[in-house]
Order: sequence, then C-alpha cells, then structure tokens
Amino acid sequence: MLELKNLKLSYGTSQILNGVNFSVKRGDVVSIIGPSGTGKTTLLKCINYLVKPTSGTIDFDQIRMDYARPDKATIQAIRLRTAMVFQQFNVFKNMTVLQNVMDPLVVVQRKSQDEAREIALMELDRVGLSAKKDQYPAQLSGGQLQRTGIARALAVRPDVMLFDEPTSSLDPELVGEVLKVIKDVTSSGITSILVTHEMQFAKNISNRIVFMDAGVVAAEGSPSEMFDAPANPRLAQFLSTELETQ
Ligand SMILES: Nc1ncnc2c1ncn2[C@@H]1O[C@H](COP(=O)(O)OP(=O)(O)OP(=O)(O)O)[C@@H](O)[C@H]1O
Ligand SMILES: [Mg+2]
Repeated sequence: MLELKNLKLSYGTSQILNGVNFSVKRGDVVSIIGPSGTGKTTLLKCINYLVKPTSGTIDFDQIRMDYARPDKATIQAIRLRTAMVFQQFNVFKNMTVLQNVMDPLVVVQRKSQDEAREIALMELDRVGLSAKKDQYPAQLSGGQLQRTGIARALAVRPDVMLFDEPTSSLDPELVGEVLKVIKDVTSSGITSILVTHEMQFAKNISNRIVFMDAGVVAAEGSPSEMFDAPANPRLAQFLSTELETQ
C-alpha cells in the first residue's frame, strides 16, 4: 500500500537519507530500528512531507508523487491518510483531553460536534482515558498525555499510523501503559510503522523489522531473522549494544 523508492534528503550539506527503499503492505506492523542519528525520524516525516526529500518517489495506494515535483493536492491527500504520534506529545495545552481528540475531526475532517464527540469518546475509551476526558494536559501524567496523542491520531481513522519513539520521553514506570495501548492498536489490524528503541517490544508486535544505518535500509526481515540470527554485521553489533543498555 505504501512504497518509498530511492529517497534522498539532505540538511544543508549533510546527506541524511541516501537512497532509502521502504515499503509496507496493508495490515503490516513494521518497526524501524537503528542507531541514533541514522535518519529514522526523518524517514517517517518524509511520508507526510513534514520534511522535504530532494528526490525519490512515494506510492500510496493509487496516489503517486515524485518528490522532485511535489504538489500540494497530493501531499494533502497523503496527509489525510496518515496520522503521526510524536516522541514529544502532540497535544494542545489549552484544550481538554476530549477537545484534543475532537479537534482534527472538526477542523480537518469537518465533522459535526456531535459526531466528533462520539468518535472521540470511543477512542478515549480504547486508550483507557474516558475518566480523564475533561482534564487539561497540565493535569495528566506523561503516559496519559501520550495516550491522548494516540487517541487523537486514531480518531481520524488513518490508513497508516506512524509512531516515532512514542515511549522514549516517558518515565520508566509509564512506558508499559503506552506500550499496551500500541499493542492493542497494532493487533487491531491498523497498518503501523513504529520507530523504536524498545527491542523486545518491536520483536513482539511486528511482522517485519527494518534496520536503518547511515541513511539507508541496511537490512530487513522477520523479527526472528533480524533478532535471533542477524546476518548483517552492523545489525548484530547494534543489537548487542542496544540490548546491553536495556
Ligand atoms: N531540522 C534539521 N536540521 C538539520 N539537521 C537535522 C535536522 N533534523 C535532523 N537532523 C540531522 O539528521 C540526522 C538524522 O536525524 P533523525 O532525527 O532522522 O535521526 P534518528 O534516526 O531519528 O535518531 P534518534 O534515534 O536519535 O531519534 C541527524 O544527524 C540529525 O542531527
Ligand atoms: Mg528519531
């Protein structure tokens, strides 16, 4: 359903993505792992054009775009099909939890207040936050904030969920509740791409693992191919240091 080909991107004079080829099928749960600074966040952001690749193409079902010739309508069409959960929680401080989840439904999808409320309440229930619906972000824990962000992303019913290290800014005791919600989401069949340093979690929830290194996809395969018998020496080295610190 989604395919990126030969994606290149530079910031100033540094080439960050050096020809990434990456694809997901409908229903896939793909985890992207790899060393810090290797371009994982940048790759996710290319999908909804939050950053501008210099070349490459994207195919999203019937939508196709050449990044060398971006056009607004196509970018908008792709954005409407994706939702991103950021490392830093994407919630508005001046809105209640419920208003945060209703916001994209009303503002982007032009749904009525009643319809937006109904969907938002359903998504808040799914992430276990019904009781907090009238609270403001300042009154919530990091885990609750991130679950609000996830409900907000889910509410627009995206074709693809993009998660960028959704637990990395949480206190350790709050990681579990957010991972549980992500596990529920991915097992419900929503196509998901997850950038994570939680190796055990990636292994448990994904049907494919993509290892990025130095701005390219250096290896990919099933969780057991990648974690139990990594053929790529850089991957083996990355996993041994990563697992040491967990
Ligand atoms: N806006 C920017 N301007 C200039 N350089 C940037 C910008 N954003 C990212 N970079 C650089 O691009 C490279 C890739 O960054 P990216 O955030 O994609 O890495 P990452 O793989 O997500 O790392 P991490 O695991 O630490 O999140 C890094 O070297 C980073 O410093
Ligand atoms: Mg990152």
